Order: sequence, then structure tokens, then C-alpha cells
Amino acid sequence: MVLFVIILSNLDTSTIPFSKTAKIAELEGAEAGLVLSSGMAATSTAITALAGSGDHMICHADVYGGSFGLFHSLLPKFGIQTSFVNVTDLEEIEKAIQPNTKVIFLESPSNPTMRICDIRKIADLAHQRNIQVVVDNTFAVLNQKPLELGADVVVHSCTKYLNGHSDVMAGAIVGNQTFINDCIDVFRKLGGNLNGIDAWLLIRGMKTLGLRMQRHNENAQRVAEYLNEHPEIEKVHYPGLISHPQHALAASQMKGYGGVLSLELKGGQSEVDQFLNRVRLFTRAVSLGSVESLITQPVAAVHYNVPEEFRVLGGITPNMVRLSVGVEDIEDILNDLEQALR
Ligand SMILES: Cc1ncc(COP(=O)(O)O)c(C=O)c1O
Repeated sequence: MVLFVIILSNLDTSTIPFSKTAKIAELEGAEAGLVLSSGMAATSTAITALAGSGDHMICHADVYGGSFGLFHSLLPKFGIQTSFVNVTDLEEIEKAIQPNTKVIFLESPSNPTMRICDIRKIADLAHQRNIQVVVDNTFAVLNQKPLELGADVVVHSCTKYLNGHSDVMAGAIVGNQTFINDCIDVFRKLGGNLNGIDAWLLIRGMKTLGLRMQRHNENAQRVAEYLNEHPEIEKVHYPGLISHPQHALAASQMKGYGGVLSLELKGGQSEVDQFLNRVRLFTRAVSLGSVESLITQPVAAVHYNVPEEFRVLGGITPNMVRLSVGVEDIEDILNDLEQALR
């Protein structure tokens, strides 16, 4: 695999052409890319490069809470409106399209419900109407190539798997050169540049990305299968499970299913609290994609600011717990979950 790492962080971009200053990680088969200071810097830069006042977007409610907040509360102040629909249903997307729709923003697998968007079909539909498709590929990383499936732009929170060690905040945008030039223009005006140390740590983390993802995929699959049979668990959301309603679609567009999964515990908040307090190997954190296993309750953390009606639309339930399964020994992970659920 070819890795070109372009980082615009500590270079004087006013004197050096961008093509030469470029050091961005090109993992997605894109023509060009840009690394920024966070995943949210990547998403906000990409969207404001694509849409402006009077434009409309389509997204789903089960996306990262920060992206939801950007689309739901901040962008309307600048005249960009978003319709939140169930994007697993093409008819719903079609109904939501307006003459001014410029962007369809997807996260697949979605956060935290692990629903799968049919990127190929959505891109076909979007392109017939001159709409651009942006995919947040943070959860899937190496497991999925949205550009090959027809998406126009990919954004990443490199804070997660790309770095992989919970010690960097960074983001990336990839797409065609013209679009990346537009992003550079926005980025110069808004800021959001990555600092040198984080850039270096990111490059170092990426050296083990392939190894880490293989282990995340294997460990999460084992955890999902174990939890799926557990009497204390109502439901497990993981696209690698044959019981996942979109397993076939996931298998057709992913080559592994990643390290994140969600479970719904039997019971209420008290059972969720007990579980969160009892795990020892899992660290409670809103982040994901690190070598160590992490755990969070979406409604109390990442999706805290998502209004109830959108949580319901996105399938985000109060008894849902999200696990980011790390690269530890699988027996240690399973033993920890077993003792916490006992
Ligand atoms: C899927 C996804 N996209 C984007 C972000 C935002 O990334 P950052 O925290 O690097 O701003 C997150 C953060 O959790 C995320 O989970």
C-alpha cells in the first residue's frame, strides 16, 4: 500500500506551493488530501468548502454527536440546513432531496448503532442530482474504501484508529485536487492546522495501522459473538454478526468490521452504571479506535447533546453501551466483560 503523508502543519504555506508542502496520508486512493487539527476540523472544513448559505444537506441522526451538533445547531446560523433521515432507506433519501441539496454526509458504520449505509447506491442516486457524497470513514479505516464505492470525499478523525494510541488529535480530508484546494482555502481562513508533534505522532502511529486493524477486527468479532449469546444482553450491534440486519451489505463493502460495537443491556440506568463501574480493562472514555479497550454510554457522553427525537430516529437507546475493543489479549477482554456482567 502506498502511503503518502502530507502535513501542512508547521510549514510556511504562503511561500511553498501546496503540492510540494504536501505530506498527507493517502490511504483512500484519493488524488489529494489535507491533514488538520481534529476530526471536527476536517468535517467542518470539508462541509463549508462544499456548501454555503442557502444550501441543504442530508445526513442521519446516528452520527458522531459533534458532527450532529455542527449540522443541527451551528450550520443553520450560516444558512446551511440539514435534513436528518434514515439513510439505510434509499426512498427516504430520495424524498429528502431538495433542489438546493448539495451534500449527503454519511458515517458507515454509524455511531453508535453500527448501521451500514449502502455507499454505492447512495452515491449513484446523489450523482444523478449533482450532489456530493462525503463519508466519515473513521470507524472503518482500512476496512472500507468509500471513494472506490463512489463517494466524492472522505473525512477522518485521525484521533482514532489512524493514530491509534489516544495521544493525538488530528483529522484528514481526502478527495480530488480541486476540492482539496478549496478546503485549503477554507482552512487558511478558519485555522485548524495540525501541530508538528501531533503530525509526527500520527505518522508513527500509522506504521502499525494494518497490524492494529487486523487485531481490532478479530477481537471485536469475538466480543460481539460472546455478547450476542450472553443472557444479560438484549442486543448487540456489530456488522460482523450474521444476525446484523445489514451483514450482507457490510460484507459487500467492507473487508473487516472494525473494533467498535454497541450493546443494549437488559435493565435500565442502574444496570448500565454497574456494568460501567465494574469493567477493569475497559477505560471509560468518549474516544475510540485506540490500542486499549474503551467504553462509553452514548446518551450520557458522545450523544448527550442530541435531542431525544433524533436519538429515537437514530436508534440510540438509553441502555446502549459502546465498546471500542482494543488489541489486548482476547481472553483478558472476555474475562473482564464476563466478571462485569456476572
Ligand atoms: C466518527 C467520528 N467522526 C469524527 C469525530 C470527531 O473527531 P475529533 O475528536 O478528532 O474532532 C469523532 C469523534 O469521536 C468520531 O467518532
